[in-house]
Amino acid sequence: SASASAPESAASAPEPQWEDPGPYHVAYPRNYKFIMDDTPVCKNTTPFLVLMVPVAPGDVAARDTIRKTWGNEKLVLGQLIETLFILGRPGGADAEQQQEKLKQENLQHHDLIQSNFLDSYRNLTIKTMVMLEWLAVHCAEASYVIKIDSDMLLHVPNLVKLLLDPKTAKQNYMTGCVWWNSPVLRNPFNKFYMPTNVIAEPQYPPYPLGMAYVMSLDLPAKILGVAPKIKPIFIEDAYLGMCLKLLGISPTNPPENTMFIVDPTHPLSSCSLSKVIAVTTTSISQMTSYWERSRLPEAKC
Ligand SMILES: *[C@@H]1O[C@H](CO)[C@@H](O)[C@H](O)[C@H]1NC(C)=O
Repeated sequence: SASASAPESAASAPEPQWEDPGPYHVAYPRNYKFIMDDTPVCKNTTPFLVLMVPVAPGDVAARDTIRKTWGNEKLVLGQLIETLFILGRPGGADAEQQQEKLKQENLQHHDLIQSNFLDSYRNLTIKTMVMLEWLAVHCAEASYVIKIDSDMLLHVPNLVKLLLDPKTAKQNYMTGCVWWNSPVLRNPFNKFYMPTNVIAEPQYPPYPLGMAYVMSLDLPAKILGVAPKIKPIFIEDAYLGMCLKLLGISPTNPPENTMFIVDPTHPLSSCSLSKVIAVTTTSISQMTSYWERSRLPEAKC
């Protein structure tokens, strides 16, 4: 298929050299190129906030739900909001069929950004870094981006309120659910195992959890500027923490700990929903019902 063609090396700066990274690293940056990006977003518009959703190629249900719910909020508190999905190439036996479907879907919505790396969990760092490349090239005039997983509820008005608050930094700003002392896991059976020869330090630098993080749009270019000095690891959010550290930038805690919620033990009450910015959901139907409830007038708390 056309998408599987050999990477063409653009006239770019010479890549720094390092040893073959092996299984605990990912190959980045390696001449990945965009094979779908005809969106007008950031090209013909200057949004205040870009909602960037990494998604698996086959997950059309999540994309359609987001398009009908929080991804459909275009003008919030007078600010322009745009939603984009970022993905790699589909794999497997029906890859070409999937690619054809993606083209049709994009013809209808013009909101897919696709790079030619193979989309997989282990390649999430590639997805994040090509997302930053795209944002650095196209969205430097926009103000903020939130990278948010497709299984999250996003409360757009609450996020816009936070970003419009004069106390919120306009540059060098990154927030979310920040892990300040995240240990490097040394158990080889753990999904996030990382041997000492890859990372010697016992802890990662602070970083916001990958499910939802906000950054000011000066950061993509700055992060890409230092990334070649740091060997990539497959844990994309921890990798961004390593880049931030080299930049001398610290992530910021959100003003309230009710704003970013991971895996709540109970479904959120209407009161909690009225205060949240991003929360993980267990299903598309929960996401939809959260969104509908979050539209309702102020809950009593
Ligand atoms: C990551 O993407 C690269 C480039 O497409 C591919 O060669 C590699 O197999 C992918 N890795 C995984 C684990 O999917």
